[in-house]
Amino acid sequence: MTEVTDLLDAGERLDLEGLRALQLERLRTSLRHAYDNVPFYRESFDKAGIRPEDCASLADLARFPFTTKADLRENYPYGMFAVPQDRIRRLHASSGTTGRPTVVGYTDGDLSLWADMVARSIRAAGGRPGDKVHVAYGYGLFTGGLGAHYGAERLGCTVIPASGGMTARQVQLIQDLKPEIIMVTPSYMLTLLDEFERQGVDPRGTSLRVGIFGAEPWTEQMRREIEERFAIDAVDIYGLSEVIGPGVAQECVETKDGLHVWEDHFFPEIVDPLTGEPVPDGEEGELVFTSLTKEAMPIIRYRTRDLTRLLPGTARVFRRMEKITGRSDDMVILRGVNLFPTQVEEIVLRTPGVAPHFQLRLSREGRMDALTVRAEARPDASPQARDAAARSIAAAVKDGIGVSVTVEIVEPESLERSVGKIRRIVDLRPKQ
Ligand code: DLL
Repeated sequence: MTEVTDLLDAGERLDLEGLRALQLERLRTSLRHAYDNVPFYRESFDKAGIRPEDCASLADLARFPFTTKADLRENYPYGMFAVPQDRIRRLHASSGTTGRPTVVGYTDGDLSLWADMVARSIRAAGGRPGDKVHVAYGYGLFTGGLGAHYGAERLGCTVIPASGGMTARQVQLIQDLKPEIIMVTPSYMLTLLDEFERQGVDPRGTSLRVGIFGAEPWTEQMRREIEERFAIDAVDIYGLSEVIGPGVAQECVETKDGLHVWEDHFFPEIVDPLTGEPVPDGEEGELVFTSLTKEAMPIIRYRTRDLTRLLPGTARVFRRMEKITGRSDDMVILRGVNLFPTQVEEIVLRTPGVAPHFQLRLSREGRMDALTVRAEARPDASPQARDAAARSIAAAVKDGIGVSVTVEIVEPESLERSVGKIRRIVDLRPKQ
């Protein structure tokens, strides 16, 4: 039998010392590339009084200024590019729900690196050449669909480019084409689950072996729910357009203990979200990325706003990041208490009588913000079971998070279903 270690690529075979040396060499090159070719970086480094050649160790990276989403917006559309336009082979863009979108660009080399990283991710998830991969991430300006697609091809898989939506047909395709692997947001996987049940098809009886889920936060409880309902292994994939797209970090199926960051190409730091000071590995904070090998759009110390912590490698030499708790933008502050949708997800998913569908509604009562958790009843839940579920969720939020919320148990199938990234928070507060 082929051992997993036989399949590792050159980067994954490095030892820690070799990895750190490679990172430093690449970091210096990337800083130089950004400084020489992107006026934004030249100005920001100059303002901070630091030059690429001042980076003599990996710790020196902390002396360089951050890059934020606002910086990318101000340089929209092409200001962050470091190569002439005729070397740009592809553009992607973020949705831009708040303000201007951001555009990212890729050279041939970047597209190849991206495919390599997604191939590495699918392999870590348990995918092998010859597997059929159903891609239900959206295709288009979003990086999910095309990112997964080229990575699966690079690994030598057969791709089924289903994209998002047309849920009834997705179920048909899965039954007929018999993929071993599905790549989709966890919330859309739940929408597919409803559709399997609607069609009277046993979701545990499909050809699927592994699900590679990402693009939004999801919890261990959600992993259990999906694994149990579909009889598959569920693993986490992380990425963001500004860094490259999916395939920045991936959980290994043999350990399922957090996501190994492909840090031979994307260097992670954790900083205190308020002060910006780096915190040691093991401590929670905001994830910051520096690209080490990207050509079209090198990114230096990008503030992701995603909250997690870094842990030592296990199945790979690379450090792991814990499952993302949430984005600092999605943090609700209720009477001084911080609350993340993932904390409510953990509670809702372990409560009997409710389905794994919930929404958080923020409103204003007088001068105070108030939160209502709306969770869907399971079809077979009696009125008593619904009342018990409401009381149990409210008590668990109060005990576990420390704040009082209203809980409404709503009718089965009444909450909006996701076809991509789910929106957990509905903000009904009056605009300031
Ligand atoms: O969501 C890329 C992607 C596609 C990743 C498919 C995984 C699978 P963006 O649209 O730029 O890119 O959104 C990036 O999504 O900063 C996180 O807040 C969130 N995110 C992505 N993956 C995860 C994950 C893609 N596994 C933003 N867990 C990131 C939690 C995630 N949040």
